[in-house]
Amino acid sequence: MRMRHKYRKSSAFHCNAGSPCALLAVVWSLVACTLMVQFYCYTRHDDKVEHPIRLNHRPLTRELEEVEEENFQMPPPRGKRSPRAIKRRGPRRPPSAIDEFLDESSELRNFFFPDRRTAIDPFKEGNNSMYFYPGQQWLDTDGNPIQAHGGGLLYDENSETYYWYGENKDGPTYQAHSGGAARVDIIGVSCYSSSDLWTWKNEGVVLPGEEMNDTHDLYKLNVLERPKVIHNDKTGQYVMWMHIDDVNYTKASVGVAVSDSPSGPFEYLYSKRPHGFESRDMTIFKDDDGKAYLVYSSEDNSELHISSLTEDYLDISQPMRRILIGQHREAPALFKHQGVYYMVTSGCTGWAPNRALAHASESIMGPWETMGNPCVGGNRIFRMTTFFSQSTFVVPLPGLPNSFIFMADRWNPAELRDSRYVWLPLTVGGPVDEPLEYNFGFPVWSRVSVFWHRKWKLPDGWRIR
Ligand SMILES: *[C@@H]1O[C@H](CO)[C@@H](O)[C@H](O)[C@H]1NC(C)=O
Ligand SMILES: *[C@@H]1O[C@H](CO)[C@@H](O)[C@H](O)[C@H]1NC(C)=O
Ligand SMILES: *[C@@H]1O[C@H](CO)[C@@H](O)[C@H](O)[C@H]1NC(C)=O
Repeated sequence: MRMRHKYRKSSAFHCNAGSPCALLAVVWSLVACTLMVQFYCYTRHDDKVEHPIRLNHRPLTRELEEVEEENFQMPPPRGKRSPRAIKRRGPRRPPSAIDEFLDESSELRNFFFPDRRTAIDPFKEGNNSMYFYPGQQWLDTDGNPIQAHGGGLLYDENSETYYWYGENKDGPTYQAHSGGAARVDIIGVSCYSSSDLWTWKNEGVVLPGEEMNDTHDLYKLNVLERPKVIHNDKTGQYVMWMHIDDVNYTKASVGVAVSDSPSGPFEYLYSKRPHGFESRDMTIFKDDDGKAYLVYSSEDNSELHISSLTEDYLDISQPMRRILIGQHREAPALFKHQGVYYMVTSGCTGWAPNRALAHASESIMGPWETMGNPCVGGNRIFRMTTFFSQSTFVVPLPGLPNSFIFMADRWNPAELRDSRYVWLPLTVGGPVDEPLEYNFGFPVWSRVSVFWHRKWKLPDGWRIR
């Protein structure tokens, strides 16, 4: 069993030199130093006996942590590429595997976006029942591809049912103007329900876009992204937060909607800039104590902000903290494990995939520390592109020790409605890879690992609560 980080980082002593208080401080510092050295020796010893990644003897999750390699051969270079593949956003020139991924005429197209024949179909799988196939089409119980992009899950205690909310992008992909990012008009927020996380029933569009009223936030030519829903135990309401923007992403606001039922319909309330700041990619997080938080990319996506929500979850309140300043992260997915807060984020490169990073903090308000890339397996290109996807949510699995589901989107900017879901096992444990800013060389956080699998399923018994 790995020891957890428990000492505080900055507790300043407020007392005058020469007072008994100062002497006490010195004594306590010595005690603290001794404890730290012991802690250091303990954890170092621990590191030696443990495999860096496959760390446990937990039979339930051993299969999830198998490291699976991926043979990924780049095709020989060709003269011609699709114009879309050439014209892309992003400050740095990414490896050419990403160009290949974004090129709809690539020989590898069917590798990244396998066709309908291999779709996950709850009625045709037979012996493959319950297997997740990251990147393959995923059909609902009506036989239609699931439309819940940039989404998140809610486990509803009342109905003991999972609800998956996401963007319905089942319309034509186009550019609003030359140089604009590929987009689909707002259709609305879709909702699907499931009791096993694999068989999903379409509950319809629970927050529809607005067809006619062009002053409405949800007017079809605007932007609605990353809807997330949490339940307020005090009011009994289901509260949805989402990114609201205009076609050029200059409105940079959050929107709020509310419903008495997890399957809607949701009533749209309003949008605002939290504390007056820009807000683009975002998520919400409900803590064990019933407090909820909004996490959003701000200041031109150069930093994240975390803000408390009001008790009814319908507005933001104080305090607000700026975190990961200057790190340019988006697509935050937050979760909590054994009292520690973790977050996975992506870089900011438009629809193109990039390297994920994991972060940890003892307090949700920070300081947050960056621990490196959580992706394990596949190959280097897979790990540098988050398996060609972007984080959106992390699903807790209370029945499985240290295990979660990492939910990500494999965006298809040539045909956004055909963007795929990449669900993979995420575990917490083992030493982190990168030295940390505040920890004086002590391995205080546990590693967050997302394991690549072409095909995987939750072990039997994951629902034991
Ligand atoms: C499916 O599983 C059953 C029972 O394990 C087995 O008898 C059958 O051969 C399997 N079918 C296929 C196509 O693998
Ligand atoms: C259009 O939307 C705005 C903003 O939500 C609202 O104030 C106005 O009443 C709506 N107009 C109509 C005709 O519904
Ligand atoms: C968005 O940007 C384009 C190009 O700069 C411009 O032509 C258009 O008017 C802008 N639209 C809005 C709604 O701001």
